[in-house]
Order: sequence, then C-alpha cells, then structure tokens
Amino acid sequence: MYKIAVMPGDGTGPEVVSEGLKVLEKVSKIYGFKYETVSFDCGGERYLKTGKTITDEEIERLKTFDAIYLGAIGHPDVKPGILEQGILLKTRFALDQYINLRPVRLYNDSFCPLKDKKESDIDFVVVRENSEGLYKGMGEFQAKNTKDEVALQISYNTRKGVERCIRYAFEYARKRNKKKTLTLCGKTNVLTYAWDLWQRTFNEVAREYSDIKTDYAHVDATTMWFVKNPEWFDVIVTDNMFGDIITDLGAMIQGGMGIAAGGNINPQGVSMFEPIGGSAPKYTGKNVINPLAAICALSMLLDVLGEEKAAASVENAVIKIVKTKLKSLAAGKMGYSTTEVGDLVAANLVEKEHVFE
Ligand code: IPM
Ligand code: MN
Repeated sequence: MYKIAVMPGDGTGPEVVSEGLKVLEKVSKIYGFKYETVSFDCGGERYLKTGKTITDEEIERLKTFDAIYLGAIGHPDVKPGILEQGILLKTRFALDQYINLRPVRLYNDSFCPLKDKKESDIDFVVVRENSEGLYKGMGEFQAKNTKDEVALQISYNTRKGVERCIRYAFEYARKRNKKKTLTLCGKTNVLTYAWDLWQRTFNEVAREYSDIKTDYAHVDATTMWFVKNPEWFDVIVTDNMFGDIITDLGAMIQGGMGIAAGGNINPQGVSMFEPIGGSAPKYTGKNVINPLAAICALSMLLDVLGEEKAAASVENAVIKIVKTKLKSLAAGKMGYSTTEVGDLVAANLVEKEHVFE
C-alpha cells in the first residue's frame, strides 16, 4: 500500500492533479497495486486566509509518505517569492530532495518549435542539483538604500552536495542505457571557484564509470545547442540555477509547458513530482489546461515507487494520444478539454501480459 501525499496547490494545479489521479486509479487496477492519498491544502488560498505557507508539522507528516504529488504553487494576489520559497523551496530543502530530474523528450515532432527536428533528436534528461548553489539563499546587503549599496548573492557548493548529484547523474546515465553520455554543464571559464569544484569532482567520479562517456559544455553554449543540436545530449548534470534556466528552454523544445514534468528526488527519502509549468491563473477553472505534464509527473512518481511497468504504461498512453489525437499541447488548443485528455490517457493504458503474476 503506497501512501501518496497530494498537494494540488493553486490555479490550474487542482485540475491537472485530478486528471493525474484519474490515471493513477486506472493504472493501479491494471497493475494490481494499492495506494491511499492524503490531501494537503498548502497554497495561495490558504496563505491569504491564514498566513501559513507550509508548516513544520506538515513537513514532518510529509516525511511519512512514499511520494508527494504536487500541482502548482503561485497565486496572483500573493507577492512573488512568498509561496515559492515558503512552500516549494522549503519542501525541497527540508526533505533534502537534492536532485531535480527533468526529462526533455519530444513525443510528436509537429509540436516542436525547432525546424527539421525529429522525435529521436530531442530525448535527454537534465539532472539539476536541487539543494545548493544560488538557491541556498546566502548573501547580504551592504550599505542598503545608499548610493554605495552592494548586494551579495552567494553560490554555495559543497563537495558532498556536488558529488552526490554527479554520482546520481552517472548512475542515471548508466540505467538509462541510451547514448551513455553525461555532459557537465557549467561555466568554468568565469565562475572559477564553484565550477572548479564541480569539474574536479566530475573528473574524479568519472573514473568509476568507465562505461559512461563524458563531455563538458558551458551553460551559454548549452542553450545554443539545445536549439541547434539537441540530439547531442543524453544526460546533462548542472547546478541549481543553470538547471532552472536550461530546463525552461528544454520544456519549449519538447513541446511546451503543457508536457514538461519534473521530479524533486531524494533517492533515500521522500520525492515530490510536479508539472513544471506553474499555476497558469488565467486558465484556472476553464477546463482548458493541458494535464499531460501532471500525468507525466505521475509516471515519474510511479517509476520512483518501483512500479516501472505502470510508469511506462502511463508514458506510452501519453505518447499515443500526443501522436494521434491532440491538435496542440497548448491550453485551449488541444482539441479536447482537460478532463477529456485525462480520459483519453486512462482509456489508452495498455494491459501488459504477466502483469498479475
Ligand atoms: C522551478 C521553478 C522554481 C525554481 C521557482 C518557482 C522557485 O522555477 O521549479 O523551476 O526556481 O526552482
Ligand atoms: Mn524554473
């Protein structure tokens, strides 16, 4: 019996999460596993009523679950930063979800904004460090509000933090078993402390993975190659800030925020899965938002629970409807409503042989 914490959150979060849960119910019957869900009401609405983001008690309770399924955090009436830091980042840090895993895969080449790219050209995974770097929040103001003001924002990189992320990425490249190539994405030519540590650690760990080819790309060049030669990439490992930036570009080349999912992973603890597109307030309650990113996040969640066949079945159903049914991946243009897209995925889950053995 899996215990899944569900945090629908703000905006279109609840709508997309409910389609994911629809798919979960169906796939659990096909693959014969049991689960229970417990809902957490963290988000902008509750914050506006109570001033609470996510409480320490809630964090403690989350630690007792097998996984967390998140919709979206962000509310137009709440000052930017409060919910992001108070809920999303607090949970990532408190549960030590030190990996942010973001697959970039094109399911239908007609939804790719790049010219002449096929589905097989866009199929890579970004392993983003998720607990350190600029996100650590270290820094200070000096001479605040004077004409001599200085603002420091420090990128905090520990050998242990960098190494565990790089190790995860090597293991992932091995398990993924595709091009077996790991690219370190950094900025060694300018950020000579942080990226020296990353590069040295990368080179050392690489010696233990002689089956994995290694490569290095500066972050600026990486964005260029995402557009020009995305087919070069297999697995990319990078720090928190660069990972944040390049995965939005990754989402665009795979067809947009409607399909992009990610996992905040603690390999030894509780992981949290989310569509990466945000709360999309203007589409809220209209039954037009694309739930596929949330459904892909569910597939990642199942994979981490160890339900690999169920995870693959969900992803395959998504691929099938993206290839054969949807007119677009954008909100309001899919040719189907949010709930209809969820129904289509549920209806296309394939029962595999040997499932009940
Ligand atoms: C993301 C988001 C978050 C981040 C924000 C909302 C704090 O952009 O998950 O990529 O910067 O990590
Ligand atoms: Mn982001």
